[in-house]
Amino acid sequence: MSDHSRAPEAQAGYYARHIFFCLNERPNGEDCCALHGAKEGFDHCKKRVKEAGLAGKGQVRVNKAGCLDRCAAGPVAVVYPEGTWYTFVDEADIDEIVDSHLKHGQVVERLLVPPELGR
Ligand code: FES
Repeated sequence: MSDHSRAPEAQAGYYARHIFFCLNERPNGEDCCALHGAKEGFDHCKKRVKEAGLAGKGQVRVNKAGCLDRCAAGPVAVVYPEGTWYTFVDEADIDEIVDSHLKHGQVVERLLVPPELGR
């Protein structure tokens, strides 16, 4: 049962890090992350996090998301609590995000979404 009387900060941090992948697919053939390997990146990240023993409470959670409104940089994923936005091309990019950021909190500069890129 949840305890609503606890302060918000006492309830924070169930996961140390949370990564959301945009898997948005547009039915009318319009450009979207799904057309640029988003699902493959998500699946690989999920697998790598699990293999590394990083998945679960107090550690890392990998989640699907809909459009994150930064389509111009797609495929995109965002890591919280830092709010770090990444783009990626292949499995090696995902490996680097897992090994560097999700495991050690070190941002992978070369994969950052340029701040001006939005929809
Ligand atoms: S379709 Fe992926 S961010 Fe919009």
